[in-house]
Amino acid sequence: MTGLFITLEGPEGAGKSTNREYLADRLRAEGIDVLLTREPGGTPLAERIRELLLAPSDEPMHADTELLLVFAARAQHLAQVIRPALARGAVVLCDRFTDATYAYQGGGRGVSLQRISTLEDFVQGDLRPDLTLVFDLPVEVGLARASARGRLDRFEQEGRTFFDAVRSTYLKRADAEPARYRLVNAALPLSDVQQSLNALLPEILGLYRG
Ligand code: TMP
Repeated sequence: MTGLFITLEGPEGAGKSTNREYLADRLRAEGIDVLLTREPGGTPLAERIRELLLAPSDEPMHADTELLLVFAARAQHLAQVIRPALARGAVVLCDRFTDATYAYQGGGRGVSLQRISTLEDFVQGDLRPDLTLVFDLPVEVGLARASARGRLDRFEQEGRTFFDAVRSTYLKRADAEPARYRLVNAALPLSDVQQSLNALLPEILGLYRG
């Protein structure tokens, strides 16, 4: 039996954390085994790599170092958590995955897409998400929400140009592969966002139950 691999994407301040819990609860209410996890992170070692990635530091992190750390964390997460959960037939809900690498390292930092896709093949083989929900909202709204939360991490300290590129990369990828992506308007009030998630439930259940 193979489960279903769903990823949640979007910029800072898009409400992914709240909404991933909501979606997990809705699926569990259907009696489904749901594994909720996140990237970078999801295992103790991968969470340590996350700390390296997010901590502001006086030494600038080279874009290739950042890229390799993201994929190192992903390799660990896939081996320890994601592949075993899919193999037992769970729905894996992962807060960020390789689309974030295309958006942040590719769009934001300017790493070539070719380089990212080489590592994607190397680390993931042919595993790709079955469905990706992109929580989309205007860059300034997301940044205002993120700074209201308090101290900014290394990514949140980036400027408007970086986040414009992040958002447009997500939108371009969603546009290029409509079968896999669903856009969720994350600028709406929480109750409306959750209604959009409810509207996606039948499709998710259909994909899962085949
Ligand atoms: P968040 O999960 O709390 O939003 O923070 C994770 C940060 O890591 C976020 O700013 C996006 C960034 N990130 C990347 O740059 N590349 C990646 O591949 C992933 C998964 C996350």
